[in-house]
Amino acid sequence: MTQFKNQSWTPMSWASRTALQQPQYDDVHALAESLARLREMPPLVHVGEIKSLKNQIAEASEGRRFILQGGDCAERFVDCNPKAITDKLKIILQMSLILVYGLRKPVVRIGRIAGQYAKPRSEDFEMKNGICLPSFRGDIINGYAFESESRRHDPQRLVKAATMSCFTINWIRALIEGGFADVRRPEIWKLDHISESKQPQLYTELSERVRDATRFMELIGGAGEYMRRVDFFTSHEALLLDYESAFTQKIDGEPGWYNLGAHMLWLGERTRQIDGAHAHYLSGIENPVGIKIGPTSNAAEIVDLVKLVNPNNEPGKITLITRMGHKKASGVLSELITAMKNAKLKVTWSCDPMHGNAIKAQNGIKTRDFSAILGELIETEECHRAMGTILGGVHFELTGENVTECLGGGVGLSEDQLVENYQSYCDPRLNYSQSLEIAYLISGRFAK
Ligand code: PEP
Ligand code: CO
Repeated sequence: MTQFKNQSWTPMSWASRTALQQPQYDDVHALAESLARLREMPPLVHVGEIKSLKNQIAEASEGRRFILQGGDCAERFVDCNPKAITDKLKIILQMSLILVYGLRKPVVRIGRIAGQYAKPRSEDFEMKNGICLPSFRGDIINGYAFESESRRHDPQRLVKAATMSCFTINWIRALIEGGFADVRRPEIWKLDHISESKQPQLYTELSERVRDATRFMELIGGAGEYMRRVDFFTSHEALLLDYESAFTQKIDGEPGWYNLGAHMLWLGERTRQIDGAHAHYLSGIENPVGIKIGPTSNAAEIVDLVKLVNPNNEPGKITLITRMGHKKASGVLSELITAMKNAKLKVTWSCDPMHGNAIKAQNGIKTRDFSAILGELIETEECHRAMGTILGGVHFELTGENVTECLGGGVGLSEDQLVENYQSYCDPRLNYSQSLEIAYLISGRFAK
């Protein structure tokens, strides 16, 4: 599989190229110490899991599975606690149950979790009350508090982020292995902050129907281990290249290099330059790679990028995650689809309806409107249908919490309500009920 790969690639060969969005550390010795520590730590994931995810993503490209990728815009160290992690797992399990039931196909669950700590920023500095400090770049780099010590780029945070990621993935694995994801008991995924009477009626009914069906399967002897546990994969943006290379290893008996810090990594819209360090780094690893694609992209450039990152045209390796924005989706997307078809490139299509739909509310708060999010999803799915390709998945920023970050939805969240519980350190996320609602709408509209 690796015969066409660039032979001179190493986990650090990106360093001779331009790497945008990297931290500036003043203590290079402390950085070297942190990276050495990371290289000694046990990895977070296993090569067998990465291969299994790649196969599942390949199946999604053929419409045999559907990918649900979601989680925070930026994970926070303070949320590395059992309740917050459990709640994140719950919302993804609930959404995936709705999707499995509605779409009648297995769902590939991928969290933006256990490593989603680094953020690209459009401004290097932030100005407040006449004071200018480095922008917040995610907990793996600096602190959110607007104070000079907190905003300093601190290499010790690299080790802390790896430790937090390890605690997070460990708790997710424990929950799943312990039977928490058992599809016969979806009622245990209820969130504490949603009272019994407020559980969405549709979800309660659906849980009951699923329970009925699984009881029947058990009676006829068809229920097994696969109902007790699910696959759950981790992903984050491959932004901080020192960190990513520290997790990159050769494994005995396996050709090629693997990043064992997450199952899947993605290339951000701001760092996907064809001659840049990020694309070069991702071209050398075997993990599945997502590529975010915005409305200003050029189809010929994306063809070159896909060829660079997936030189062997391996199915399941590349997921093109389009994030064009509502009413902008179909034009560029149809050009991209045609270009991929003409170049005979094997890709899985996904849609991130969040990042092209950022708006500022009257009060200056960064938000997104539920109707634009849904609008982009519908437009994208219709475009694929019309062109004979398959939308194999969706990518969301969401949370199981009762936050007030995105407008609209069935709860009709208004601009005035945004201040009530806005917690995100970065982009606004769908809250619990908006997330369930979007899962219902997708499963209703996208079912064959
Ligand atoms: C993100 O997914 O958090 C992100 C920054 O996305 P994009 O690169 O698509 O802007
Ligand atoms: Co974001």
